[in-house]
Amino acid sequence: MEPLRFDGRTAIITGAGGNPSLGRAHALLLGARGANVVVNDIGSDPEARHYPGAASAETVAAEIRASGGKAVASPHSVATPEGAAAIIRTALEAFGRIDILVNNAGISIGAPFGEISPRDIQRHIDVNLMGALWCSHAAWPHMQAQGYGRIVNTTSSSMTGFANQVAYSTSKGGVWSLTRALAAEGQSLGIKVNAVSPGGYTRLVIATLEEDSPLLAHSQANLPPHLSSPAVAFLAHEICPVTGECIDSVGGAVQRCYIARTRGFSERDHSIETLAARWDEVMDENGAVCVGLADMDTSGWGLRAYKASSTSF
Ligand SMILES: NC(=O)c1ccc[n+]([C@@H]2O[C@H](COP(=O)([O-])OP(=O)(O)OC[C@H]3O[C@@H](n4cnc5c(N)ncnc54)[C@H](O)[C@@H]3O)[C@@H](O)[C@H]2O)c1
Repeated sequence: MEPLRFDGRTAIITGAGGNPSLGRAHALLLGARGANVVVNDIGSDPEARHYPGAASAETVAAEIRASGGKAVASPHSVATPEGAAAIIRTALEAFGRIDILVNNAGISIGAPFGEISPRDIQRHIDVNLMGALWCSHAAWPHMQAQGYGRIVNTTSSSMTGFANQVAYSTSKGGVWSLTRALAAEGQSLGIKVNAVSPGGYTRLVIATLEEDSPLLAHSQANLPPHLSSPAVAFLAHEICPVTGECIDSVGGAVQRCYIARTRGFSERDHSIETLAARWDEVMDENGAVCVGLADMDTSGWGLRAYKASSTSF
């Protein structure tokens, strides 16, 4: 097979300034395959705890340029509409278009749910979920106008439940639903939206785990971040065959992760007691079906015409 390349395409990778980091690995791969790359990162978050050193979007952009690629840096925050707009503007000013958005920026603060502060909960939502939403929102009109776009969101295996990571898991579950909803709306516009659930030994992992954590040692020994990047690049390529999917890509293992619906039962006049009697049928996984593309609602359901709220944000 001919190498899959991205010549003429412009890709933004958010949160890609760390080393080691997943975003940097994605940016280096896309840059090496010919994409114009916008490397985004706020650098160091003054509230980030336990992070080794600082991230630098400019350093990673310089790495790409030093290898013969094309890259610029963006220091803006994904967590506000203004920051997201500035990231997209950087791409348009440098390269004239935006084809690929990899929403990768994220934070993780492990804490028991009864102890984590409201501020730290909010930060997960602001960066991990709203960051992906704001950047997609800013890129969308440009992708829609050109009838082409690829968005790759970053979720996490924690979205299926992770103790002491409630805020993080919640934000990542939101990213999965964001992926599905954008995919449904993008289907008729030429915009494909998928998610990757990655894994890698990165500054986030170092900052989140205790130094003697077996998970940290496993990650360091087995999970170099670049092993998650081919899945991101594939979903970002024009040949990407799917939309609305979540692909796990960790340490060389690549899998599809999906929600399934059991056959259950249908009985119009059922009572609470019916449920008690037929609960096994509700839970039975035999014959369960994947909630796939056909389950997305792309019709819009005849919604009323939208008029933007005049209330300021
Ligand atoms: N490393 C793993 O094992 C793992 C597992 C599952 C999911 N993830 C996800 O992968 C993504 C990348 O994480 P990573 O492990 O490479 O960690 P990382 O800390 O190296 O990368 C995240 C980057 O996001 C940047 N960032 C934070 N807030 C930002 C903001 N407001 N605007 C712009 N940039 C911001 C940080 O400066 C950092 O460089 C994250 O979304 C993370 O949740 C990582």
